[in-house]
Amino acid sequence: MYCTQQINNDVFYVGASDRRLALFENIYPIPRGISYNSYLVMDDKTILLDTCDKSVGTQFLENIDFVLNGRSLDYLVVNHMEPDHCALMPEIVLRHPDVKIVGNAKTFAMIKQFFDFDVDSRAIIVKEGDTLSTGRHTFHFVMAPMVHWPEVMVTYDSTDKYLYAADAFGTFGALNGNIYADEVDFERDWLDDARRYYTNIVGKYGPAVQTLLKKASSLEISAICPLHGPIWRRNCDWFIEKYQRWSTYTPEDKAIVLVYGSIYGNTENTINVLANMLAQKGVKNICIYDASSTHSSIIISESFRCSHLVFASSTYNAGIFPPVETALLDLKAHNMQKRTVALLQNGSWAATSGAQMSKIFEEMKDMTIITPQTSIKSALKKDQLPELEQLAEKIASELR
Ligand code: FEO
Repeated sequence: MYCTQQINNDVFYVGASDRRLALFENIYPIPRGISYNSYLVMDDKTILLDTCDKSVGTQFLENIDFVLNGRSLDYLVVNHMEPDHCALMPEIVLRHPDVKIVGNAKTFAMIKQFFDFDVDSRAIIVKEGDTLSTGRHTFHFVMAPMVHWPEVMVTYDSTDKYLYAADAFGTFGALNGNIYADEVDFERDWLDDARRYYTNIVGKYGPAVQTLLKKASSLEISAICPLHGPIWRRNCDWFIEKYQRWSTYTPEDKAIVLVYGSIYGNTENTINVLANMLAQKGVKNICIYDASSTHSSIIISESFRCSHLVFASSTYNAGIFPPVETALLDLKAHNMQKRTVALLQNGSWAATSGAQMSKIFEEMKDMTIITPQTSIKSALKKDQLPELEQLAEKIASELR
């Protein structure tokens, strides 16, 4: 059965959600599922903005057939060529052989990389500022390279003032009937997943997101229609402000996150002692994560949120304990910057993890590493408590 929603008199949501997929991109856990959004505009000419992932193909194609109601599809706009959005393009071409495909030069190079159907005969190549009229609607194409991939563009409909934003303003999480952000408690139920989505998927490309935000600021926007998660038709500025912070690597909260890798619990104990000291000094909302049992996408997301980071690691094979090292390398790969960091190492003999963690952080931009580092030998001892108190006081004084 079709499962669509009418957004206004001639714009329809034809996407679908997947609650079965365990790992988005085969790497990110998505316990709340994910939506693949697609929008169909029934103007004098019909125009589809992006397709969906193949996992929701049956539902998506049924939705399209229902809304088209016997009409053929005139245009398919390809804002992004990642397969979670373009996988069903060949199906669309098979069903609507006269469809014209709208994309930029890089889009068409990628279509040929992924698929073998004849694209040249149906290609409409657009560049920055080009427009396409379908009757009542005029679509403007705005290039947004590296707002995930190099071919990404967004499409602005100057009639409805809708911004079809590709991956920008997306989030993990299946849509549960409510397709608008104002129909859910977004801050309570969605923000953590939105942050984890942004920081892990697009976080590396902050300057590209900044460029897009500047372009978008000159547009009058009545709704933001992303490719994942709910549509924003109210309070868009609240979400745009989050994007401003995330894309400039500005902490969202003056807060601390502590991440540890502990083999037998002694490094963990030291982190717990430090957290207690911080709490006694008035620090609130302290977050602790065990790197061994926490997916690094959560550590990335929390590090983008917080102003202060503590990383603690046992020494393992003369290096950093692997789960901590994975998280740190992931942080570096995501362009993390502008944070204050405290490091704590443990080693029963020849402790090296502190220096190696420090080296990774030194390769990131604008990181303040608190010195001296705390070093424990096997287990925290009483005579080290003043040193830990000093560290707690320094962090607490900055957070207070
Ligand atoms: Fe949702 Fe970059 O694809």
